[in-house]
Parts: sequence; C-alpha cells; structure tokens
Amino acid sequence: MSAIIINGKEYAAALAERQAERCGELRRRGVEPCLAVIMVGENPASAVYVRNKERACAKIGIASRTITLPEDCTQEELHARIDALNADPAVHGVLVQLPLPARLDESAAQLRVKAEKDVDGFHALNAGKLMQGIPAMLPCTPKGVLFMLKNAGVPLDGADAVVVGRSNIVGKPMSLLLLRENCTVTVCHSHTRDLAEITRRADVLVAAIGRPRYITADMVKPGAAVIDVGINRVDGKLCGDVDFERVQETAGWITPVPGGVGPMTVAMLMENTLEAACRA
Ligand code: GUN
Repeated sequence: MSAIIINGKEYAAALAERQAERCGELRRRGVEPCLAVIMVGENPASAVYVRNKERACAKIGIASRTITLPEDCTQEELHARIDALNADPAVHGVLVQLPLPARLDESAAQLRVKAEKDVDGFHALNAGKLMQGIPAMLPCTPKGVLFMLKNAGVPLDGADAVVVGRSNIVGKPMSLLLLRENCTVTVCHSHTRDLAEITRRADVLVAAIGRPRYITADMVKPGAAVIDVGINRVDGKLCGDVDFERVQETAGWITPVPGGVGPMTVAMLMENTLEAACRA
C-alpha cells in the first residue's frame, strides 16, 4: 500500500484563486494590499525565496516592494527601514528575510516589526499569543502544514504527533498548533535519545531537521501522516528530510519535496498579508 501524496502545489493554486478574488474585493474598497520584504546582502537562497514571494504577490494582485540593503548595513539602518515601513499606511505586511548576516541581531529586527504587520508571525507578541491560544498572525510554514493535514483529512484529535526540530520558525509553533488540535505532542531535537523509537509512535510526523533523507522508512509507523519541511540540495537536486521513495511505501500520507510544504508557506504568507490588509 502506498501513501496518499499531499500536493501542496495544488492546494496553493486553489488558494491563490480565492486570494485573488479577496484581493480584488479589497481593491474595489480602495485598499491595495501590499507586502514589503527587506533583504540584507546577497544570500542566493534568500534571493530565490524573495523572488517566489514577489511572483506569488503578482499572481494574486498584492503589491510588493523589495528593499535590498547592503551586506554591511548596520542594525540602526535596518531598524530605520523597518520603522519607515511600519509607519507607512500603504504597507500592510513587513517581512525581514532570514538569515541576516551573522553580525546583525535577528530577534531585535523581528521585534522591531509592528506586530500588526508581522506577516511572518515571528514577533514575540504573536508568538506569545499563539502560546496562549489567542488569535494571532501565525508563522507561515506551520500554518501551511496544519492546512494540509486538515484538508487531507488526517485525524488530529487525540493523535500522537511528533515534531522533529525545535526552531522558532517551525518546530516550536508547529508543536503549539498541533497541541491546539488536541494532539499529544512530542518535540524532538539533536539531543533526543533514541529518536527512531519516538518517531515510530507518531500518527503525525513533522520533519524539520535540515538533513537530507534523515527520516527513513524504519522510523515511520505504517499509516502515519509524514510532513516534510526540509529543503536540501543534494547533487544539485532538491530533496527533503524524509527518504520519500521508501517512506511513501508505508506512510498513510506524505508530502513531496518540492511541491509540498514550500508552496504552502508562500500561500500562507499571502493569506497573512490579505488578513493584515483587511484589518487595516
Ligand atoms: N528564511 C527562510 N524561511 C523564511 C521565512 O519563512 N521567513 C523569513 N522572513 N525568512 C525566511
């Protein structure tokens, strides 16, 4: 028996149609939704992500502005740019593309973005609201993962969910969202003892490790939903954190890389931008 492939690209395309309609409605009411992205320096991976975001905006009708600051810009210069976008009523979403050059303070920059415009959901206020179950701007990747799980009909209430990875961007918010869905959540990381023994108990397994094909078939419970957040490049080819070919033979559901979580992350960024524009 082979797994149902959860096609993030298809979900994102269907969402884009509805988002384009919502965007048109906002424009008719005189609001032009606008996303501003700040990039510091020339990180090639970031440049690809930012281009994808611009394309998604253009497709839906969201205006986008990309601000590229020089590699050697100071924290103060970065904050001044963020402040200007915070104060600009024509801008509804502000996103600082990560990673920043190592000498810059990422969390200070994230805190600088006005919480209402924090379409990444990385501001401490939005993170705190998520923790307390208060409606908040949610981080795009975990939000997209939850969307896929729900729309694919994966049972969540009472399910054993295992999240591998504890980042502020994916692992931690993902675990909180699954907890909110009444999963019993375990968070694993690089210091976890006997990882395979834990992942084998998962009805829902989210892999956000950053190591190519790290989750092998023997680590997966037959019938489980396996969500692959990894984007790794091996011999010039993209692959996830899950050994897709083998795991798809035993899993119940699985997301591919590319075409799984990635397009959903961008779709949720569009969703957050429209929500911010709607509220403004
Ligand atoms: N770099 C990699 N992923 C992300 C993301 O979701 N948001 C931002 N701002 N930077 C990133």
